Amino acid sequence: MISVTRKSHFNAAHRLHNNEWSDEKNNNFYGLCNNKNYHGHNYDLEVTVKGEIDPESGYLVDMKVLSNIIEENICKKFDHKNLNLDTTEFKNLIPTAENIAVVIWNILREKIDKKLKLSIKLFETPRNFVEYSG
Ligand code: NI
Repeated sequence: MISVTRKSHFNAAHRLHNNEWSDEKNNNFYGLCNNKNYHGHNYDLEVTVKGEIDPESGYLVDMKVLSNIIEENICKKFDHKNLNLDTTEFKNLIPTAENIAVVIWNILREKIDKKLKLSIKLFETPRNFVEYSG
């Protein structure tokens, strides 16, 4: 098995807030990410596919195809958006890095060849990232 990774990037705003909790509990728990007027992150995304090299082409995956899938379905969708207000995915889902990673994985899984294993890493800051592989 071999893996190939494509890096990409988007900027987005969010607010972490659980409507079931008091403002005080939200503020204590989420801290700065609970700021009521939102705040932004520079998200870095690494999409990794894994499988067997196609002996005919020598490729695991065509990087141009993979990068277009990510650009069209993730970056265009989320870049320069307020995740809470501008997207349907996070109308009722708190846009934590964990939940964003799951949403991205689910979107990409539909678009990428099923014979390839898919995992993603989403960096919310250079030091904080989450990984999801289904
Ligand atoms: Ni935040």
